[in-house]
Amino acid sequence: MFIFAPLLLATLVYGSAFNPTLDKRATCTVASAGNSGTDDVPAVVSAIKSCGNGGVIIFSAGKTYAIGSTLDITGCVNCQIQIEGTLKLSNDTGYWEGKRTVVYINGISGATITTTSGAGVFDGNGLPYWQVFNANSSYARPTLVYINNSKNINITKLRFKNAPNVFHSVTGGSSNVVYDTLTLDATPENGVTPKNTDGFDVGQSQYVTIKNIKVTNQDDCVAFKPGADFTTVTNITCTGSHGISVGSLGGGAGSTDTVTNVYVTKATMVNSTKAVGIKLYQGGSSHGIATVRNVTFDGVTVQGCGYAAQIQSCYGSASTADCNSAPSQSTVDAVYFKNFSGATSTEYDPVIADLDCPAAGTCNIYFSNFNIKSPSGKANVLCSNVDSNMGLPCSGSASG
Ligand SMILES: *[C@@H]1O[C@H](CO)[C@@H](O)[C@H](O)[C@H]1NC(C)=O
Ligand SMILES: *[C@@H]1O[C@H](CO)[C@@H](O)[C@H](O)[C@H]1NC(C)=O
Ligand SMILES: *[C@@H]1O[C@H](CO)[C@@H](O)[C@H](O)[C@H]1NC(C)=O
Ligand SMILES: *[C@@H]1O[C@H](CO)[C@@H](O)[C@H](O)[C@H]1NC(C)=O
Ligand SMILES: *[C@@H]1O[C@H](CO)[C@@H](O)[C@H](O)[C@H]1NC(C)=O
Ligand SMILES: *[C@@H]1O[C@H](CO)[C@@H](O)[C@H](O)[C@H]1NC(C)=O
Ligand SMILES: *[C@@H]1O[C@H](CO)[C@@H](O)[C@H](O)[C@H]1NC(C)=O
Ligand SMILES: *[C@@H]1O[C@H](CO)[C@@H](O)[C@H](O)[C@H]1NC(C)=O
Repeated sequence: MFIFAPLLLATLVYGSAFNPTLDKRATCTVASAGNSGTDDVPAVVSAIKSCGNGGVIIFSAGKTYAIGSTLDITGCVNCQIQIEGTLKLSNDTGYWEGKRTVVYINGISGATITTTSGAGVFDGNGLPYWQVFNANSSYARPTLVYINNSKNINITKLRFKNAPNVFHSVTGGSSNVVYDTLTLDATPENGVTPKNTDGFDVGQSQYVTIKNIKVTNQDDCVAFKPGADFTTVTNITCTGSHGISVGSLGGGAGSTDTVTNVYVTKATMVNSTKAVGIKLYQGGSSHGIATVRNVTFDGVTVQGCGYAAQIQSCYGSASTADCNSAPSQSTVDAVYFKNFSGATSTEYDPVIADLDCPAAGTCNIYFSNFNIKSPSGKANVLCSNVDSNMGLPCSGSASG
């Protein structure tokens, strides 16, 4: 049987009275079923079918669209998805179990997801997902927006709230992806704490730009995962997070994870477990050997974070003894920490940095203009296995 309904849900209009740059673009407005519980994704799919090739797909102001199935933007070729209303993930935790993502941007060349009014919101409806996960950590939740094997993708000006899991992930050989002027916030509700709400996971990719961003969450603010190359992060405020981190790397048996050419600047890190860091697994046949090269953190303001900087080479291991018997053989090279200011929290006072480098690997790290104090006024730095003249005095051995 044929279902005609979705075709009626998109209105195709040519032209736009006021914006000359959009003048020749087809415009489709996605009809909303009024948040009645009906999935609005089929209406989006039909709008993309009509307007995806160079056109504009609009989610209207003042409306809430129910996202009850994966929103795959296949068919978008240099299209613009304009969210002026609210997109809200359904609460069907059974349906979403094991689904990789809510928004799926795969094999796309050219797409912009934005709001012109500034009012656009993507609500990940996290509460029921966090509840189920907190009761059973085997429950697999979707990423909110997953970009894979795509290029020239811009996501700008939107607010993303309460992701069920990771907010944004980019991988699969993607390139030239820009996240600009976004607010990401996951906040506890009814006493339920969000889990694994990473802001941005940057995986196998080149030229990913993350700028003018505010993140409030409970896990990594930005994580540079295996294969991240030429990632820049500029003007970001991270509150309550696990910081801006390289890793974790080298977890898989025989893996050779790399993260290269990262530049982070103008970061304000508030109440985070650490401001910035690197997470590496131990060595041995059950793990891999990672390479981290040419990574710069330049201009970081630290407010009440556990550590200002942390390097771990025994990440996720059962015991220090385990790591000592199979130390990390990873390479950390040309990693710069410049222009840090502010204060850590009381958590590790008087220690402000814990730098545990690979015992069977290489570690060339450099600190300059690193003006951090703990609340007591002391600024102790713990370090192990550093090969370079790093520019800070060490007052003891590191761990982790
Ligand atoms: C889940 O969403 C449906 C449809 O919007 C609604 O009728 C139902 O009350 C919601 N259930 C819960 C537990 O929030
Ligand atoms: C936890 O979730 C997994 C995955 O859905 C399921 O297989 C398992 O039975 C659940 N365990 C409990 C105790 O509910
Ligand atoms: C995407 O952002 C980049 C960098 O800001 C910009 O050069 C490019 O024109 C943008 N693309 C679109 C389609 O807006
Ligand atoms: C991502 O893209 C790669 C191609 O680079 C493909 O092999 C893989 O299946 C895609 N993964 C997903 C989850 O779409
Ligand atoms: C930094 O980002 C914030 C949040 O998006 C923005 O309000 C502010 O204008 C940006 N600052 C600069 C200098 O661009
Ligand atoms: C180091 O990374 C930065 C930031 O991505 C890049 O601009 C620079 O060219 C890289 N340097 C080398 C030697 O590759
Ligand atoms: C950071 O933590 C301090 C101490 O707990 C608290 O007073 C402050 O409100 C927090 N700041 C933010 C932005 O959450
Ligand atoms: C860091 O300090 C150096 C030298 O003091 C300066 O040239 C550079 O512009 C500073 N970077 C930032 C982001 O302030």
